[in-house]
This record gives sequence, C-alpha cells and structure tokens, in this order.
Amino acid sequence: MRMDEIINDVRSCKKCALWENRNNPVVGEGDPNAKIMFIGEAPGYNEDRQGKPFVGAAGKVFDEMTSSMGLRREDVYITNIIKCRPPNNRNPLAEEIKQCTPYLDRQIEVIKPTLICPLGNFAASYILKKYGFEPLQISKINGKIFEVKGISGGPKIIPLFHPAALIYNRGLRQKMEDDLAVVKKNI
Ligand code: URA
Ligand code: SF4
Repeated sequence: MRMDEIINDVRSCKKCALWENRNNPVVGEGDPNAKIMFIGEAPGYNEDRQGKPFVGAAGKVFDEMTSSMGLRREDVYITNIIKCRPPNNRNPLAEEIKQCTPYLDRQIEVIKPTLICPLGNFAASYILKKYGFEPLQISKINGKIFEVKGISGGPKIIPLFHPAALIYNRGLRQKMEDDLAVVKKNI
C-alpha cells in the first residue's frame, strides 16, 4: 500500500457529506518515512483553500512547536482525522470520523511512525481508542506517554493540546513547552 493510492482515494471520496462543500481535501504533508506523526482534527478555511494541513493561525503555532524541537515540516508527517473541512469549522460528527478515519489508519500503516502526537481532544480520543487505551480529556493526558505493546513494538503516543487552543489560552504555552520537551526525548 502506498501513499499515492491513499491520496487518490481521498481526492475522489464521497463517503460523508463533507465532500459537497470542500474546495480541496487535505490528505497530509511531510515525510512519508517520518518517525513522528502529528494528527490534528480537520481542515479549516485556509487548509481547505490550499489543500495543506496547518497553514492558518493554528499552523503558525504548529510551526513554532516543531521548530522549538529543532524539526522542520519536512522532517515530520502532518495530517488530520478528518480530510474535508466541516462547515464553519464545527466539530466533526461521529459518523464523519467513522467514515474518514480508515484513511488515517492506512496512512499510519504506510508511515509506521515510532511516535504519534494527536493534537486536541478529537484526535487524542481516536488514537487512544484505536490502540486500546481509555480516551480521557486532553487536559488529563497532555504530555503523557502511552506505550503500545505488540510483537514488533507499536508506536508511542504522546497527546498534546491542539495548537489553536494556545491562541485563545496563553496559559497553555508553558504546558506545551513542557510537553514538547517530553516529545523531543521520545523521538
Ligand atoms: N486545525 C486542525 O486540526 N487541522 C488543520 O489542518 C488546521 C487547523
Ligand atoms: Fe471522504 Fe473523509 Fe472527505 Fe468525508 S471527510 S468525504 S470520508 S475524505
């Protein structure tokens, strides 16, 4: 299975109603051999326009996060649990998550990251449940390390606050800095 097949499948996808209003689906971006994968929620206005993840205001915070760890966008892989923009950036619906996340699952299979950082509640819930952990509120699990046990060793999971949350709540910046120190040690 290859990333270009996933890209083609997403571009023609009509599995949920979000396809009707999308300008561009946002499949993901970065190194398909990256060790670390960041997973956000869904494209916003700018991402839908450009077809790229985290290019708006939250993207600016995301870029600060990665560069504070000495990483460039090209060193990591960035995607979302939902590939098409929900109207007015509303929360994704359970049905949309159900229809769309098989693409994310395939991306994880191709990339085989050693570390997954879900960003915010929706991504953290999906990823923790996928690997058999209990999903808790992001503020209870940010910066904690979840180790997936498996024959060949699964990925580590370190949930982080969503970058957009730092725009509205400056008090989260110190917490994010501490959490990123944990991430850096575990790459
Ligand atoms: N918020 C997200 O969760 N993902 C993006 O790509 C942009 C904003
Ligand atoms: Fe398909 Fe996902 Fe877009 Fe829905 S959000 S149309 S499932 S790619």
